[in-house]
Amino acid sequence: TKGHGRWSPGVNFDPVAPNTEDAMVVPDGYQHQVLIRWGDPVLPDAPKFDFDNQTAAAQAKQFGFNNDFCGLVPMPGPPDRWFMVNNHEYTSEKYMFRGWDKENPTEEQARIAWAAHGLSVVVVERDRRSGRLEVKLDPHYNRRITLLTEFEVRGPAAGSRFLKTAADPTGTVVLGTQNNCAGGVTPWGTILSGEENIHQYFANADKVADPDTKARLERYGFPEGASTRKWERFDKRWDLGQEPNEANRFGWVVEIDPHDPNARPVKHTALGRFKHEGANVIIAHDGRVVAYMGDDERFEYMYKFVSDGRFRPGSSRRAREHNKLLLDSGTLYVAKLSGDSPEREIDGSGKLPSDGEFDGRGEWIPLAHNDKSFVPGMTAEEVYVFTRFAADKVGATKMDRPEDVEPSLRNRRMYAALTNNSRRGAAGYAPADEANPRNSNKHGQVLELEERWSDNTATRFSWRLLLVCGDPKSPDTYFAGYDKSQVSPISCPDNVAFDRWNNLWISTDGNALGSNDGLFAVPLAGWERGHVKQFLTVPLGAETCGPVIQDRFVLVSVQHPGEVDGHSADNPASHWPDGGDSQPRPAVVAVRRKDNGLIGY
Ligand code: FEO
Ligand code: CA
Ligand code: CA
Ligand code: CA
Repeated sequence: TKGHGRWSPGVNFDPVAPNTEDAMVVPDGYQHQVLIRWGDPVLPDAPKFDFDNQTAAAQAKQFGFNNDFCGLVPMPGPPDRWFMVNNHEYTSEKYMFRGWDKENPTEEQARIAWAAHGLSVVVVERDRRSGRLEVKLDPHYNRRITLLTEFEVRGPAAGSRFLKTAADPTGTVVLGTQNNCAGGVTPWGTILSGEENIHQYFANADKVADPDTKARLERYGFPEGASTRKWERFDKRWDLGQEPNEANRFGWVVEIDPHDPNARPVKHTALGRFKHEGANVIIAHDGRVVAYMGDDERFEYMYKFVSDGRFRPGSSRRAREHNKLLLDSGTLYVAKLSGDSPEREIDGSGKLPSDGEFDGRGEWIPLAHNDKSFVPGMTAEEVYVFTRFAADKVGATKMDRPEDVEPSLRNRRMYAALTNNSRRGAAGYAPADEANPRNSNKHGQVLELEERWSDNTATRFSWRLLLVCGDPKSPDTYFAGYDKSQVSPISCPDNVAFDRWNNLWISTDGNALGSNDGLFAVPLAGWERGHVKQFLTVPLGAETCGPVIQDRFVLVSVQHPGEVDGHSADNPASHWPDGGDSQPRPAVVAVRRKDNGLIGY
């Protein structure tokens, strides 16, 4: 069937079969290269990576651990040169250090972990003839951002009493970013990145006396007692008993400008504080910019932000400086969805209702606009810093873990990866609804949201599920009505991206079907809508993230290869990418056609 003119452009490749290999597997006629790995140099004077002799000083100049989001921003000047920005989401010490003693980490190990977090910015060049990509050790632009880099807090909650600490009585300067999961490239050439599972690095929520503070920490999942990594022993900011407000200085969307290596990174309070998966921006018809966002935890919400100001086109310094202020003022909304099928037809089994679709309508409920709160009983400052409470109060719809939530710049619809929810329908938890139609949801779903009149600033929308994921042989799956005997099995959608033909690309995390995670493509329009095809699988124990779909190459992040229960650096489950008896290393991989042709064409 390959090469048949009726097939949708961009997805014309032979799908990869599910497997459990400790290798990258790509379609016939394609090849891959490892572009950069944990420990590879980012700054020109970085020492060579030495697994058995790691130092914090070296790590601060090298590519960090567990890269998740990957963003490509074209550089000014000739084509085929980009800034590549990668998030380093979290550290897994037992895979980073041989003989890891979790009760007695050393201070140097903690400092290595702080340096292994944050982001990397590198210049990447593509050789036009071979199609091969190369990381350049650019002395001007390459940059590491770590847990010790200064961030400027901006927007309505900058300087809030909830953000002040002994180290920063102004509440406007935060050291570092952490748990940066997904993200997005803005129309003005910066990167947005979401601070997600921030709770896990803090200790002693039980030692907080004030009941309001305690309730807030609990709603965001901050743990009692010692933290897993014991950082509180080396810097008291991780000890909530001593510095409860330090928790409030994480959980934001951050913005990095790769064009200006001296620009201070920003934390945007106008976009609310929760376990941000990422943020993706579209320019609405009237020039205002709209950022779509997900809060990735079971029964959390989908949000959007609509700016007050309008986008100024062009790449002049003045235009860019104007656009970089757009996310400082605007309105923050949360989504409330309703189904159009009778409730009795949504029984939690995933069986399609009688109208043949999981679909309905919804509204964006405003939470705050700058210093004005729309939530009874909460000030604007409280809405921005404790956004989950605001969404609870207005009755927003509890979703099955909203991961990447991203608008297509072509059809203006927003696509949300709802990765799974083991507790849906369990005793004491929300039952299935039309948008989250399966109890004990293991495989997740992908939702398509269409704003009224395709106006991304609208407060009304319609929605439908594009995919209900899982084994296509199972009756509780749905592939937009496409012939299920022809699709690839897919489980736990996490990140989404689009190619030039507006096919949706989906990467997965936690494949509950027993094979490795991977990257999939699916047309959104035409007769092949719903025809999910697997483009690649990643090595054992890894999750696939950060997909970037360019015309002649695809980038994916291979996060946490070898992270398999019962294994560690003393007993590695994976030897990818270096082979032999090497330790696994998270990395960015580039895939291209052997003949250097267009991807999927
Ligand atoms: Fe870091 Fe929601 O995955
Ligand atoms: Ca319906
Ligand atoms: Ca993710
Ligand atoms: Ca994930």
